[in-house]
Amino acid sequence: MFEMETHISGLFPEILAMIFSYLDVRDKGRVAQVCAAWRDASYHKSVWRGVEAKLHLRRANPSLFPSLHTRGIRKVQILSLRRSLSYVIQGMPNIESLNLCGCFNLTDNGLGHAFVQDIPSLRVLNLSLCKPITDSSLGRIAQYLKNLEVLELGGLSNITNTGLLLIAWGLHKLKSLNLRSCRHVSDVGIGHLAGMTRSAAEGSLSLEQLTLQDCQKLTDLSLKHVSKGLAKLKVLNLSFCGGISDAGMIHLSNMTHLWSLNLRSCDNISDTGIMHLAMGSLQLSGLDVSFCDKIGDQSLAYIAQGLYQLKSLSLCSCHISDDGINRMVRQMHKLKTLNIGQCVRITDKGLELISDHLTQLTGIDLYGCTKITKRGLERITQLPCLKVLNLGLWQMTESEKVR
Ligand SMILES: *[C@@H]1O[C@H](CO)[C@@H](O)[C@H](O)[C@H]1NC(C)=O
Ligand SMILES: *[C@@H]1O[C@H](CO)[C@@H](O)[C@H](O)[C@H]1NC(C)=O
Ligand SMILES: *[C@@H]1O[C@H](CO)[C@@H](O)[C@H](O)[C@H]1NC(C)=O
Ligand SMILES: *[C@@H]1O[C@H](CO)[C@@H](O)[C@H](O)[C@H]1NC(C)=O
Ligand SMILES: *[C@@H]1O[C@H](CO)[C@@H](O)[C@H](O)[C@H]1NC(C)=O
Ligand SMILES: *[C@@H]1O[C@H](CO)[C@@H](O)[C@H](O)[C@H]1NC(C)=O
Repeated sequence: MFEMETHISGLFPEILAMIFSYLDVRDKGRVAQVCAAWRDASYHKSVWRGVEAKLHLRRANPSLFPSLHTRGIRKVQILSLRRSLSYVIQGMPNIESLNLCGCFNLTDNGLGHAFVQDIPSLRVLNLSLCKPITDSSLGRIAQYLKNLEVLELGGLSNITNTGLLLIAWGLHKLKSLNLRSCRHVSDVGIGHLAGMTRSAAEGSLSLEQLTLQDCQKLTDLSLKHVSKGLAKLKVLNLSFCGGISDAGMIHLSNMTHLWSLNLRSCDNISDTGIMHLAMGSLQLSGLDVSFCDKIGDQSLAYIAQGLYQLKSLSLCSCHISDDGINRMVRQMHKLKTLNIGQCVRITDKGLELISDHLTQLTGIDLYGCTKITKRGLERITQLPCLKVLNLGLWQMTESEKVR
């Protein structure tokens, strides 16, 4: 049985009727809530462009996927899997995006039956949390999905450096790769991706976005590989990578295309690391060093010297004080978002400096700043562009701000 989620904003009457016939009373009620939208939906193909069909894959009805295909639907999310994935692939020859996130029982075997020949249309594949998937599937993906641009492998603990070698061998158009919590991945694998083992694999050198969050085996050597080979990288997420240190920041500091760097909870990064970043040729727009215990006021001085073009800066729970704020605010003309939640040493004086100088600010997080008072908050609310003030329990709205 196919059970459509209510958030698919429309389907054609014949498909609807078919789906309806499978629904129980409760589900019919849910569907009825969006019926008006369905009824009003235009019959034109353009309506379906960009729509993602979300469904449970149960009793395979051979005609559903061809129907979606005929309507021009190119994106599918499978919410749960009880039938062969090959129905989807065979029924939708032009499929562009396949999201299997959380299909806990998708195996290498199941994926192997679906990917048996080139699928040049497929650009986005999301396998996050499909736990049984191993390197063997990555081999198939690298062989048949040559045009893949986005690959999500978050939480796949069976993936190893060999899998990354296969990606580096086959997926040259890859722009975005998520390896969150792939705990076996180490510097060798990142080296493959960055083309450091060219005799075996060219590398995925088009990568613009790389998430290595919580890859505990990575060291500064990975950052060296990244800086040498992945020159097009724009977004790098290293949050919770305990193995990287200040020395690694030297490697990153010449990545001129890097736009967003996430170092949240990287316990070994200190003021020295921020100094390295600030002394290089970075043009960062976003930096997150929240929960880095070793980052203090000195970092804010470095940031003001070399990273003054930042638009977003997150320092939650860092060891900063009003003094650090004072050393930073005059240079940060572009700053729009400042997150200093749980910085328990910040007082109204810091808020005063912020409201006097950071006039472009649209958002600020002050959650858990226990030393601030109503007086400081009043200053902050006078910032001309401020839209979001997070104090944890409530968010200021436009009307409250006016009042
Ligand atoms: C996935 O698990 C469900 C039970 O939760 C089972 O009915 C189904 O056959 C399994 N699917 C595959 C492809 O193994
Ligand atoms: C992968 O799927 C999850 C769950 O649907 C979603 O949150 C995430 O954004 C997806 N990733 C991509 C690149 O689409
Ligand atoms: C995947 O890893 C889990 C442990 O995380 C293990 O129990 C399982 O056997 C592995 N599967 C394969 C196919 O290697
Ligand atoms: C950064 O410097 C290293 C040498 O330390 C060099 O190999 C690499 O190509 C540089 N990266 C960029 C993006 O300029
Ligand atoms: C990067 O990591 C943070 C956690 O620190 C997470 O919230 C964020 O979504 C990640 N970004 C990307 C692009 O994966
Ligand atoms: C990171 O810091 C911990 C203790 O704070 C230390 O044991 C470890 O060796 C450090 N790792 C690196 C790569 O510097």
